[in-house]
Order: sequence, then structure tokens, then C-alpha cells
Amino acid sequence: MIEGKKVLTGVKPTGKPHLGNYFGAIKPAIEMGKTAKQHIMFIADYHAINAEKRVDVLNKEIKEIACIYLAAGLDPKKSIFYRQSDVPEIFEMTTILTAFTPKGFMNKAHAYKAAVDKNVAAGKPNDDGINMGLYTYPILMAADILSFDTDIVPVGKDQVQHVEIARDIAGAINAYYGKDVLVQPEAAFDDNIAVIPGTDGRKMSKSYGNVIPMFEDDKVLKKAVFSIKTDSKPVEEPKNPEEVLVYEIYKAFAPDDKVQEMAEGLKNGKLGYGHIKNMLLDAILEKTTKEREIYNYYMNHFDEVQAILDEGAVRARAIASRTLKRLKETVFGF
Ligand code: TRP
Repeated sequence: MIEGKKVLTGVKPTGKPHLGNYFGAIKPAIEMGKTAKQHIMFIADYHAINAEKRVDVLNKEIKEIACIYLAAGLDPKKSIFYRQSDVPEIFEMTTILTAFTPKGFMNKAHAYKAAVDKNVAAGKPNDDGINMGLYTYPILMAADILSFDTDIVPVGKDQVQHVEIARDIAGAINAYYGKDVLVQPEAAFDDNIAVIPGTDGRKMSKSYGNVIPMFEDDKVLKKAVFSIKTDSKPVEEPKNPEEVLVYEIYKAFAPDDKVQEMAEGLKNGKLGYGHIKNMLLDAILEKTTKEREIYNYYMNHFDEVQAILDEGAVRARAIASRTLKRLKETVFGF
């Protein structure tokens, strides 16, 4: 589906990802990029300032996310990797797009509506604390996408509507000028990716406080793994693996024969919860140690990352400036 297509994804720098984010979104996005005709991945730092203004926090989160993507296997020779704020063409594009975006699109965008709903629930005025950056952010996101003639945008469910807005804005422009000035993108949503449950069995999410961290040291990881919910059955009591949360999580990390071994051990009362938590911890460590090492290396050698991002911005600007030129010539007639 991806072969021959131009694929683009933006990531907001909002704190270190947990195992669920990492294996559910980051790795699959990088894998998907490998077969694309062109793969673009960028750090959406202008999106981030709508919600986070503290310089030290922003700075740290931008650096962390850049290092995490490189550690996860993003190949900066093949993929174009940059910071959004290094590509000013995107912001010229944004201005043109605003002229073609009905205000109603923004009123019904999820991110804005969710913020309003939260205010209403708290008995506050509808637009309390909502800045124009949040309100118009689907237009900036459309510019992120349309500047690169993107065909496919791999996103989570919550972002599908925003990609559709980008598609509609491009469609409105093409219809007005009677030609295909902009490429109309499509959202790609992968249903096949296994969801890793959190330590309480719900979807792993920071807002539930049930995450297993990914880029912290072994001790923090161990603590999270040992906090995974179990009942109080003794070791020798046979257990149905499908009812054991540790086992559910283990399936996402261990090879099939190991998974089988845990299932058998639980069924015939040979393995207790302490054992299987250690098995899970080992499996997670085995699967993540190398990537955590690369992450630490880049965090300590950020000049190398900076050079990669600088080079990415040069390549990104070359593409975005061509799209912008085409659009401006269309809009102004010369
Ligand atoms: N809005 C996306 C998010 O919150 C991040 C993002 C910004 C993005 N621009 C994008 C994603 C362009 C895909 C394409 O996760």
C-alpha cells in the first residue's frame, strides 16, 4: 500500500514515550517509512508551544524525541528528518491555506472541541485558556502535510479527522482553480498493531498512570513491571494464561516458544507471578537495551543529532519551496 507513495508523519514532543507508544506507534511508523517512495518525519515543535511554553521543558522534550526516533531506527539518509520550525515555507503555506479554510472546520475539530468540552464540564467559559494556536492547529497541520505533496499520513485514530481537514482544504483549492495544485492526502490507520495493555490492564496511557516506561533506567522499568496487577493465587494453583495480565503483555515482547513456555508453566502450576514478572522484565530488557543505549549515546552527543536535523531541514525546504512556488503562482497569477 505504501510502495511508491510519499509518506509523512509529525510527532509532537510531549515527554518520553512509554512502551505502548514506542511499539504501537513509533516503530511501526519507522517501519512503514522504509518501503515508501519518500519518507518524511518531523518534530512538530510549533504545535508543541500551544500547550507548553516553558523553555527548559520544550528544549528537553524536543531533544529527547529526536534521539528516540534515531534510536528506533529512523535512517536519516533515507528519511527526511527535521524540526518544523526550521522550515519557514510551512508557515507561508499556512497563511494561504487560512484563506481557503471555512471557520466551521475549526469549530468542529476534535482538539478544539475536546478543550471546550473540558471547560464546560469544569463550569468555565467555553474558550477559557484556549489560544488561537490550538484553535487553528488543523490548518498548520494541513500545511505540514500539503507542503510536501504527501500521499499518506500514518496517524492514530484521534488524528484522522485532521488529515481529512487537510484533504478538504486541498480539495477546495483545487476546485477553485480548476486544477490539481495540491495533492490530497489520505490518513493511514493500522488496525493490526497489537495494543499493549498497561499495568492495570487498561490501554497503556500516561493519563491512567499505568505505563511501563521505555527510556528510563532498568530500576524504573523493574518497578513498573512488578506493579503489574495480579490476583493472589499461589504458585502451584493452575492458572488460565489468558486471564493473566503479565502474560498478555509478555506476548508482545517474547518469541513464540517463550510465550508457549510461560503459558504451560501457568497452566500446570509451575510458574508463579514473581517468576513470570522476571521473565517479562528480561524479555523487555532484551528487546530494548540496544535502543536505550543508542538513545543515551545521542542524548550525550546532541551535536550529531543537530547536524542530522539541519541537513533534514535543507532537504525539506527544497521540497516545500517548490510546492509553495507552485501554489503562489496559481494564487497570484505570476
Ligand atoms: N497533530 C499531531 C499529533 O498531535 C502531530 C502532527 C502535527 C502531525 N503535524 C502533523 C501528524 C502532520 C501527521 C502529519 O499527534
